[in-house]
Amino acid sequence: MNGKDVLIIGGNGFIGSALGRHLADRGFKVTSFDIARPPFPDGRIEYVMGDFFDDNVLAAAIKGRDLIYHALSTVNPGNSNEKYMMGYSRDFLQTVRLFDMLKAEDAKLIFLSSGGTVYGNQDVQPIRETATARPINHYGNVKLCIENTLRVFDIQTKAKMIIARISNPYGPGQDHKKGVGFIDAVIRNTLEGEPVEVWGDGQIVRDYIHIDDVCEMLADLSEYEGEETIFNLSSAEGTSQNRIIEIVKSIDPSVQCVYKPARSVDVQKIILDNSRFMSFRPRTLTDLETGIKSVYDYHRG
Ligand SMILES: NC(=O)c1ccc[n+]([C@@H]2O[C@H](COP(=O)([O-])OP(=O)(O)OC[C@H]3O[C@@H](n4cnc5c(N)ncnc54)[C@H](O)[C@@H]3O)[C@@H](O)[C@H]2O)c1
Repeated sequence: MNGKDVLIIGGNGFIGSALGRHLADRGFKVTSFDIARPPFPDGRIEYVMGDFFDDNVLAAAIKGRDLIYHALSTVNPGNSNEKYMMGYSRDFLQTVRLFDMLKAEDAKLIFLSSGGTVYGNQDVQPIRETATARPINHYGNVKLCIENTLRVFDIQTKAKMIIARISNPYGPGQDHKKGVGFIDAVIRNTLEGEPVEVWGDGQIVRDYIHIDDVCEMLADLSEYEGEETIFNLSSAEGTSQNRIIEIVKSIDPSVQCVYKPARSVDVQKIILDNSRFMSFRPRTLTDLETGIKSVYDYHRG
């Protein structure tokens, strides 16, 4: 048994709930803190219902923990340019409050940032953690504001804080209707006999990574003791949306697509260098074809 007492803020979401299962597999004592009920409760996990934006409730939830994952965002890349004040006035400020509360705690914090949006458009790909981040939407910028603030608090707190810049996770539990998840959209729309919307010409390149790989990497980061603060968690491989459609078509030829005008909030190409993480903890990742087939089979159920 690992025995570490871990809290996942946003623990009933797509990443949080999968992470909870992976940490429980490793013997962590896991508590999920979330405003919503867990979609598939796990007997090994304690569920605490609460609002991240309530200071007293949040302070009580983090008290005495060894490890905290911050896996919550109320905005996404698609809606953040309309809801940007929510990102800055709620997500950013309350996360700063959380960092402040952690000054009195010994907990290590791992913040789930967005590798897909903090970098913006970059000429050099795969993108390393050392690239200058230039987000082109408010979601990415809110993440960057939080990251910068975290680094200042990291110097002041007793325990380490780590930033995980996750690329484009996919897998069971994702819901593209929340605003992200192209693979989920192609698979589930196809199974429902609906066309999938592609914003642009389908040449947008993303770095897709299976949710189980993301969770294992996030769990590994809990053991990191070195000097780095930022880690890209990615496959380091770029795949276009048209290629995703092709892969799903090879499994189920009934895929239908509707091409719509490109959105200004989407960068053209994101491939993240993962060598910093891999030199800490080498890992063989799920290949995309196998991963997509397993998600298709899961939903076909
Ligand atoms: N999904 C992705 O593609 C992706 C990629 C990179 C980074 N991230 C980041 O990872 C984190 C988790 O993403 P996700 O896809 O699992 O999101 P999600 O929306 O599936 O989960 C977020 C969870 O937070 C909970 N929540 C929302 N408001 C709350 C509140 N006021 N109090 C308590 N709980 C609240 C929700 O109920 C939900 O269970 C986010 O910070 C996101 O920005 C996600």
